[in-house]
Amino acid sequence: MNFQIRTASCGELTKVDNGREVILNGWVQRRRDHGGLIFFDLRDRSGIVQVVFNPEINKNAFELAEKIRNEYVIAVKGRVELRPDGTVNPNMATGEIEVYGVELQILNEAKTPPIYIADYGDVEVDENVRLKYRYLDLRRPEMQRNIMLRHRVTKITRDFLDQKGFLEIETPMLTTSTPEGAREFLVPSRVNPGRFYALPQSPQLFKQILMVSGFEKYFQIVRCFRDEDLRADRQPEFTQIDIEMSFLNRQMLLEMMEEMMVKIFKETLDIDIPRPFLQMEYCEAMSRFGSDKPDIRFGLELVEVSDCMVNSNFKVFANIVASGGIVVGINVPGCGNYTRSQLDELSPLAVTYGAKGLAYLALTEEGIKSPVAKFFTEAEFNQIIDRFGAKTGDLILLIADKPDVARTAMGQIRLEFGRRLQLIPEDQYQFLWVINFPLLDYDEAEKRYVAVHHPFTSPLPEDLELLDTEPGKVRANAYDLVLNGMELGGGSIRIYQHELQEKMFKILGFTPEEARAKFGFLLDAFEYGTPPHGGIAFGLDRLIMLITGSQSLRDVIAFPKTASATCLMTGAPGEVTPRQLKELAIKTAL
Ligand code: AMO
Ligand code: AMP
Repeated sequence: MNFQIRTASCGELTKVDNGREVILNGWVQRRRDHGGLIFFDLRDRSGIVQVVFNPEINKNAFELAEKIRNEYVIAVKGRVELRPDGTVNPNMATGEIEVYGVELQILNEAKTPPIYIADYGDVEVDENVRLKYRYLDLRRPEMQRNIMLRHRVTKITRDFLDQKGFLEIETPMLTTSTPEGAREFLVPSRVNPGRFYALPQSPQLFKQILMVSGFEKYFQIVRCFRDEDLRADRQPEFTQIDIEMSFLNRQMLLEMMEEMMVKIFKETLDIDIPRPFLQMEYCEAMSRFGSDKPDIRFGLELVEVSDCMVNSNFKVFANIVASGGIVVGINVPGCGNYTRSQLDELSPLAVTYGAKGLAYLALTEEGIKSPVAKFFTEAEFNQIIDRFGAKTGDLILLIADKPDVARTAMGQIRLEFGRRLQLIPEDQYQFLWVINFPLLDYDEAEKRYVAVHHPFTSPLPEDLELLDTEPGKVRANAYDLVLNGMELGGGSIRIYQHELQEKMFKILGFTPEEARAKFGFLLDAFEYGTPPHGGIAFGLDRLIMLITGSQSLRDVIAFPKTASATCLMTGAPGEVTPRQLKELAIKTAL
């Protein structure tokens, strides 16, 4: 069908266009009949404009307009005019004008859509319906903005890295195991029956190989796959801005990445993020905030009071401290007047975060309210209150446990109260580098050390000597970029000397044969002149989520998966025929 092709975009018309003849193409958002006139909002990618049909201008067009329903696709020829006084809509970008339709062509009809196609604001809409009809959901202005912003960010990133001399190089999707440590998605090989590819958790090994190959600066905006339990900030397939560089030191890389982030925020939100970003040691992040990704937009910092409890009559605490645990807490200002039932809810909350319990001291006008008050001496109370700088009306919360457990649980309680008391400024972007993570973590179940980041992460040079004596104390030359309490990215300076790599494998409990079987090609490559190198990867989806202020990764990915890793639109993962399975030499055990 021939149709009149647009000469203007709906969302771009302003009063400057007054009197202009335009042809618009788009979808009808909503039709209203008013006193002999038909109005509708016409939507295209650029936005929405009001179109009016008047029987006195063109009777045929008016009669056709009466047939129009929501989401019909139309072409309109008309004239831009200023809206009459009193009808200007300040909430609409094009609210000062409207288009008087002269000709109308219906290009396609539409069934009544199962979801309302407009921004929802605070209206709750069943997300399952949105995901099933994703093509309609994506028509909503909010989703279009998110997807367009995502495009802008990848464009800015590509241009920035290109300008800095980085090359975008693709790496395979059908590959073997990579070292990030999540469960992998496997793909059976038909031509090699019984063998499987793994989808990459990241291009980690390939980007290091590319450094051996002499490309010096690599990047890729790349899909990664991890079969892990999903949350609001985790998808089974997600996108990384993946970067690796040779002949660098950590500070060079961090500075360049800061520059990139500052540029992205300036060009998308027009916000000036101050540099340099704050850097914090992992240990400090844990002891002050109980998290390796602290939200530093508010205080309520953790305070340790283990030393006050060594001789306490509260045996639970004294025993935990005696066996190497700690007592850590926060002081919540103004919550000392919590009711009994509010207070009783706190302990179960702490338990959901992994603590064994939670003790509180409510500093009321009538004195200290606490179920454990009877165990404390006056001196102990005073010492604790003093340590927290607490005053009447405050609520001190305490957890005793192994250091990591106690801090992590308290860190979550801190976030909970930050939200409850609205202490978190919504309009701030607080970047933070968390550096010097532990290199190794002792796995109690497997009775061996595992790499916290991955086995190619270099120890800090000043901690190298501890590798033989106290491996658990060695810090890694690794860094995470945290924004408002979310881990945006992480990376490390890599091991590039052969001997150190072998030692690392040994500490991780890999025999030389096992290491060869897993990463042999990388180890081989490393024997042919490996440059010092390091890198980082950012979660693009998370970055877009923060920039758009979205609550879920699903709002910034065109076709995301549900929390149970399904796609409601396509039905993936789907059934396959017995014949397909036979070809792949696979039998299911179901
Ligand atoms: P890491 O495993 O820390 O590092 O991943 C880097 C960043 O990717 C994002 N991310 C995710 N985003 C959405 N859904 C997920 N399931 C998910 N998992 C991770 C996070 C995270 O910070 N190869 C190393 C990087 C390196 O050492 O250079 C790596 O992948 O924002
Ligand atoms: P119990 O003696 O187990 O009844 O505990 C008395 C109080 O101490 C309760 O309010 C518990 O929640 C709290 N409590 C018990 N164990 C811990 C712990 N490890 N850390 C913090 N509070 C605890």
